[in-house]
Amino acid sequence: MADYVENDSVLEPTEVSEPTEVSEPVVEYDDAAIEAEYRARKKAQAEYDFAQPYDPEALLEVRHLRKAFPIKKSLFGKVQQELIAVDDVSFKLYPGETLGIVGESGCGKTTMGRTILKLHPSNGGQIIFNGQDITNVKSSKMRELRRQMQIIFQDPYSSLPPRSTVGGILSEPVEVHKIVPAGERKDYVLDLMDKCGLRDYYYERYPHEFSGGQRQRICIARALSVNPKLVICDEPVSALDVSIQAQIINLLKDLQRNMGLTYLFISHDLSVVKYISDKIGVMYLGAMVEFGKKDDIFENPLHPYTRALFSAIPNPNPDIKMNRMVLTGDIPSPANPPKGCRFHTRCPYAKEICKHIPPEYKEYGDGHFAACHLLEEQEG
Ligand SMILES: Nc1ncnc2c1ncn2[C@@H]1O[C@H](COP(=O)(O)OP(=O)(O)O)[C@@H](O)[C@H]1O
Ligand code: SF4
Ligand SMILES: [Mg+2]
Repeated sequence: MADYVENDSVLEPTEVSEPTEVSEPVVEYDDAAIEAEYRARKKAQAEYDFAQPYDPEALLEVRHLRKAFPIKKSLFGKVQQELIAVDDVSFKLYPGETLGIVGESGCGKTTMGRTILKLHPSNGGQIIFNGQDITNVKSSKMRELRRQMQIIFQDPYSSLPPRSTVGGILSEPVEVHKIVPAGERKDYVLDLMDKCGLRDYYYERYPHEFSGGQRQRICIARALSVNPKLVICDEPVSALDVSIQAQIINLLKDLQRNMGLTYLFISHDLSVVKYISDKIGVMYLGAMVEFGKKDDIFENPLHPYTRALFSAIPNPNPDIKMNRMVLTGDIPSPANPPKGCRFHTRCPYAKEICKHIPPEYKEYGDGHFAACHLLEEQEG
């Protein structure tokens, strides 16, 4: 595959859209009854899914994951209002794959990644890693899991201890997890540094002596030093100069190939996600609104939100006329998401039903899922 070359298709909230005027028959909706029926159906579906056997092929299986942050408590500590940052998210990730997670800022990408790693406790759902349900695993069992599941953060400036040398930073996890015998540790670390494009003499240097790109290489080396199976990359190039983003992306891709890694790759930069991913999940206000193979998602996006995101990507070929679809309005607060389809306040196709009834998240092609009433109607 050709190396990644960066471009500027970063998600930005955009303006002005073509409103669609649709005359519809007047229907009375009982929102409270709809909500109660929807919750009951979701609960029954989740209970059914939790009882199903795990997919033996999947490295990571997430079922109906939920993460809520309390944002208002009474004097006695009772939660009065919560913000649902991750709402009923399900997907599978197979060994060696990269799943790209896209969506505007605040849609829950980071919270989902951290909840999977159990850096946040979940409030519902199942996390199955390598054939084991780790949702409620005891902290004493977390040490080995932490080794197998690593994370690379967005900001390589704050994520490295300033007073340790690069050699010290990389040797510590190798020692803690007894990856190699003590006598082989330095050679192991130097070899890893070489794989990550870090010169030998960096071993004695400190993080502050390096640029952002070099520091991110150190963070990558640290994550890989313990031979993880899954690496969650949370916007790993967003804080870097555009000129070095491509180098880091290509490094991650090479390391994946050579070390058989599986990535959950979070980014708001569609060109990066398009380059690195095998599958893509699109999140909006905490929910997965579309999921599928990369080519299906880019060539045949089903959800209006995905279509709006992708139509913002500049096409380098001037002969191709862009059918630009633009999003209006602010992103609603996840503390108070819209009823019905949570995208209806910004969707140019929204109809009355969308304001009241949440669309089903359903499979519309081989592994291609989406949640939209238009798709349900087309299916008949
Ligand atoms: N610790 C927290 N407490 C309360 N709200 C939080 C916390 N962390 C994240 N949130 C909220 O959860 C939502 C999702 O945030 P985040 O996962 O960081 O989104 P993304 O990574 O997609 O930008 C946002 O509304 C954010 O304000
Ligand atoms: S369900 Fe309605 S509001 Fe939601 S994406 Fe589909 S058309 Fe738009
Ligand atoms: Mg984030």
